[in-house]
Amino acid sequence: MNLFGHFDDAAREYVITRPDTPWPWINYMGTDDFFSLISNTAGGYCFCRDAKFRRILRYRYNGVPMDAGGRYFYIKDGETVWNPGWKPCKTPLDAYSCHHGMGYTRITGEKDGLRAEVLFFVPPGARCEIHRVRLTNTSAARKSFQLYSFVEWCLWNASTDMENFQRNLSTGEVEVEPDAIYHKTEYRERRDHYAFYGVSRPFDGFDTDRETFMGMYNGFDAPQQVLSGTSGDSVAHGWSPIASHRFDLTLEPGASEELFFVLGYVENPPEAKFERPGIINKKPARAMLEKYGTAAGADAAFAALKAFWDDLLSRYTVASAVPELDRTVNIWNQYQCMITFFFSRSASYFESGIGRGMGFRDSNQDLAGICHLIPERARQRILDIAATQFPDGGCYHQYQPLTKRGNNDIGGGFNDDPLWLIFGTVAYIKETGDFSILQEQVPFDNKPGTEVSLLEHLKISFAHVTDNLGPHGLPLIGRADWNDCLNLNCFSDNPDESFQTTENKTEGSKAESLMIAGLFVAEGRDFAELLAHPAVATDPAYIEKVRAAVATMEKAVKTHGWDGEWFLRAYDYYGRKIGSHENDEGKIFIESQGWCTMARIGADEGLCDKALDAAVKHLECEHGLVLNTPAYTRYIKDYGEISSYPQGYKENAGIFCHNNPWVIIGEAMAGRADAAWRHYCKITPAFTKDQALRKVEPYVFCQMVAGKDAARPGEGKNSWLTGTAAWTWKCVSEFLLGIKPQYDGMLIEPCIPAAYGTYKIHRRFRDAEYDLTIHYTGRHGSHFIPYAPGRHELEINL
Ligand code: GLC
Ligand code: GLC
Repeated sequence: MNLFGHFDDAAREYVITRPDTPWPWINYMGTDDFFSLISNTAGGYCFCRDAKFRRILRYRYNGVPMDAGGRYFYIKDGETVWNPGWKPCKTPLDAYSCHHGMGYTRITGEKDGLRAEVLFFVPPGARCEIHRVRLTNTSAARKSFQLYSFVEWCLWNASTDMENFQRNLSTGEVEVEPDAIYHKTEYRERRDHYAFYGVSRPFDGFDTDRETFMGMYNGFDAPQQVLSGTSGDSVAHGWSPIASHRFDLTLEPGASEELFFVLGYVENPPEAKFERPGIINKKPARAMLEKYGTAAGADAAFAALKAFWDDLLSRYTVASAVPELDRTVNIWNQYQCMITFFFSRSASYFESGIGRGMGFRDSNQDLAGICHLIPERARQRILDIAATQFPDGGCYHQYQPLTKRGNNDIGGGFNDDPLWLIFGTVAYIKETGDFSILQEQVPFDNKPGTEVSLLEHLKISFAHVTDNLGPHGLPLIGRADWNDCLNLNCFSDNPDESFQTTENKTEGSKAESLMIAGLFVAEGRDFAELLAHPAVATDPAYIEKVRAAVATMEKAVKTHGWDGEWFLRAYDYYGRKIGSHENDEGKIFIESQGWCTMARIGADEGLCDKALDAAVKHLECEHGLVLNTPAYTRYIKDYGEISSYPQGYKENAGIFCHNNPWVIIGEAMAGRADAAWRHYCKITPAFTKDQALRKVEPYVFCQMVAGKDAARPGEGKNSWLTGTAAWTWKCVSEFLLGIKPQYDGMLIEPCIPAAYGTYKIHRRFRDAEYDLTIHYTGRHGSHFIPYAPGRHELEINL
């Protein structure tokens, strides 16, 4: 029995049945450039394009109580004040539910014969949230009560909003109309954008000044105006602008009333900013209010949202004997892939939206989850990412979504970064067959005039590795590789500096990475295959060079990267081994087992089977495969951040779910179906039994689950925005269920326990539709389906 909620697969929803979940369980809304985070108690915020620079609602991170701020509705019914989402008043409700669906959240509360249902969503193509509030008198008596809305505005830059009070508390400005409140701080000067919160009928009172609404010493749970059933009709000048509408309502027994709120964002052309001096041009806002402020308008918008997701989620579906698998594949994993694609690692309940932007490596990996869903956007993303590269193949580690410009906020010089551009581009072309992307002209560091073709960028990415080899012929690690916390060229004893941006010793470094070596072999092979395709037809001499570099790397790994039972992880600055039986702690690491087995290095000599066995023996625990073992028990200056974490958490022996699929894919490539399946089930939330232990949302993958050495093994953290989404998708769709897109068709190559070996797949591939019935009996084999437009029904026995 689940404690806090359950899946409703037919509706593609997760239904939360009590509001006091162990941690806020959130959902995302938005499909284009207006996005919202919303918790099961309606907490959260929204922004347009960039969570840092265009923040619309203010949010208090890690507040007390947790999840403070959002879109709150208060109902004052006699002396009782309550919220449909329970928070912030926490008045006990007679009934509560929260349905998190695809791009929408419906929260229903009932108290003393009054039911309030609020549907929150962002219509496709629109820059607003709709809050559709339906109030029903379920009692036998006539009811008179008040409804209040409440949101608190952020002064746009979410970072300075939290710091620069000497200015902020004087800048706030609003305008009020009978049915809408406009937030226009800084519009008078350099901003051409404002926000508004309007509603489908004129309100009976309002507030825009926070303290007038709340009372100076009250919290969100006890706004003074709501307690007294009044409004201050306050117009904010500075301090903290908010928007609250009040409605005095009466409902006959059984009667309902609907109100349609629109929380929107408008950008005006500079020449049409004002309607008259000092008064903002509200035309676009009025248009949105008109469009969505009726049942018909909101219905149409909601239908469009449904259609958007129905279309996407019809492209790859499975019908198997395992409901948890179907639920993951058909709904939640693909949904999470879309969300991680939109946000990279910027905005979640673990990422503040003011820290990281779009990661170079992260966003490339995210592509593997969405090329089959939104290929046009994948294409644009690849070109945006490539444009942040430097002429030597290196790159900024992240870029800001608003400007698409790279920045050094979390450093550069991560030597795995360039290879991910090959990874992302290959994934895109295999899915779409669109080789033309390789000819797109892309600048370096966004500097006009520096353009070369994307293909050239890939060549430079490849060369970045061969230009930076260490003493064993293995790739130099740079600031770190995929593991941000393996900082082998940073020797920090100053707590005030970051492990990622401090690089105080590089000259003569011998720090080499076996993870990059495996990645290089795998991606190098893919790259050579791409170059040799007739549609690319590169100079054969260059292809030979690529193949030779790959072969040389394989040899280097076998000679200098094999520890006897498993692959080493790295060499440190001084050339000492990391991830070897010779080490006291950190004897074995997951990343190199994953990448070297995916690259099948030394497979013929049995190295892959041995490495996979070692992963099972040393890294596997009840909840998944830990990153390294034994965990580091003290800080090691030569290794950096990895040893800063307490044992069992994050990169120090946590179950870093992102890299579990690497081993699972390694297992699948080795034809070891049982181990692959077992590892997969352990990290996949649909199979997770103990929701209270897991703590975070049971419908999405976590970046990290506490490992065996942790205080609470199995406790999840950093849910939603993680490379785990795209990697588990690649793993399950291509390697377990075995549908692998190729340049000229699809390779069917399953690896799943024979007990579940019969299943049906529907797959849209380019403009073709395939209905496949697969019978897999455990014999490792494959079947190639050449691409052909049209509908195909095939039965495949393997
Ligand atoms: C986080 C980062 C990712 C990194 C990983 C391991 O998930 O977003 O870039 O590879 O941690 O350190
Ligand atoms: C990754 C790691 C995290 C580290 C961060 C630094 O996200 O997961 O532990 O602090 O990188 O940027």
